[in-house]
Amino acid sequence: MAKLAINSGEKALNCAWPGWPIWGDEERENLNGVLESGLWCYGEKVREFEEKYAAFHGAAYGITCSSGTTALEAALLALGVGAGHEVIVPPYTFMATASAVLRVNAVPVFADIEPDTYCIDPADVERKVTDRTKAVIPVHLGGYIADMDRLWEIARKHSLWVVEDACHAWGSQWKGKGAGALGHCGVFSFQASKNINSGEGGIILTDHEDIADACRSYTNCGRVKGGAWYQHFVMGSNLRMTEFQAALLLAQLTRLEAQTVKRQESARILDDILGGAPGIRLSRPEPRMTRRSYHMYVCRIDQEALGVSRQRFLEACQAEGAPIYAGYSTPLYRNPLFDMAGSGPENCPVSCPYYGKPVDYAGVSCPVCEAVCQDSCWIPQQYLLADEQDIRALGRAICKVCENVAELR
Ligand SMILES: Cc1ncc(COP(=O)(O)O)c(C=O)c1O
Repeated sequence: MAKLAINSGEKALNCAWPGWPIWGDEERENLNGVLESGLWCYGEKVREFEEKYAAFHGAAYGITCSSGTTALEAALLALGVGAGHEVIVPPYTFMATASAVLRVNAVPVFADIEPDTYCIDPADVERKVTDRTKAVIPVHLGGYIADMDRLWEIARKHSLWVVEDACHAWGSQWKGKGAGALGHCGVFSFQASKNINSGEGGIILTDHEDIADACRSYTNCGRVKGGAWYQHFVMGSNLRMTEFQAALLLAQLTRLEAQTVKRQESARILDDILGGAPGIRLSRPEPRMTRRSYHMYVCRIDQEALGVSRQRFLEACQAEGAPIYAGYSTPLYRNPLFDMAGSGPENCPVSCPYYGKPVDYAGVSCPVCEAVCQDSCWIPQQYLLADEQDIRALGRAICKVCENVAELR
């Protein structure tokens, strides 16, 4: 008789999973407070959130903006990254990590990721450095912090800026210091799916006053500290956060610590259970990561050993009621945007005269990323907030599929 739910066996899970976002009276009261104050833009609440969020990560300065995408763009502009420069990025990430580089007229160069952290591989970063490289953007994938020690060695050696894409890493720490405060600057997203959210929003953190001032200027129409309202010094934009967003974030921030701890505990339980499952490969333990936030729990499956495709495996898990999905399934450089070989203004900046040579992304290959895109499985963050018994049942449901995988062949 079939055991797997996909073959009409008994379903392993019947949990009511936590929804997202989580909100309550704090959000309602903060939003009403802003509404009734009549002061809706870039004021007291924004400042308060910037200070509290920067302090939460151990950074000296926080500069809010409209999204994680615009935070990346403003950070690169503030560091003087622009035409003719290269910026090294991983291909296993959301498009914004690379599109922000193109937006400032620089050229993204892809370095491969590590097979068991899913973060940029420092050895490949070093191989990709040229005399045009100005910056590297490590992405702390799913909350796992990239190897900042090695990246700093390379950055110092080649005089590179380090801009952390910490858009999955609210609360993660490396040797006790918060993500986003580990590079020259770091950026976060507060978009709706994120672990702390205001629908849309972002922030740049830094320990450097000059970088903070430049980021503030680029995000606030090119104004400067002490300058007049109608004086604009750089070609900035209006990327300001509203008071409503900051009001939501201040309320969400009161829950972030407890939720981070809870997700970390759920992930530890899943590691314990899935660590024994045939065909499952977990991420590498990293003692320097003194705290790990989880935007998603990521593992890989060995399709050859299991004898089934990831799609079939995930369908079977989902039939058991397990919320587990494929995640990024193509490296960024295989996205249609990067189909930009050839010359012409539409291919700027990768074929513009100031870059000096056309780039053909068709020739790019990052084999580890390509494999991870084929075999990784994600459990999104909100499910990690479920009760301990449901998390244990989730782990067992995935094990059940591994143990009865012969039914899927
Ligand atoms: C790794 C990463 N970087 C950047 C971003 C961009 O953030 P936003 O959606 O707030 O623009 C995201 C959003 O999903 C992301 O996942």
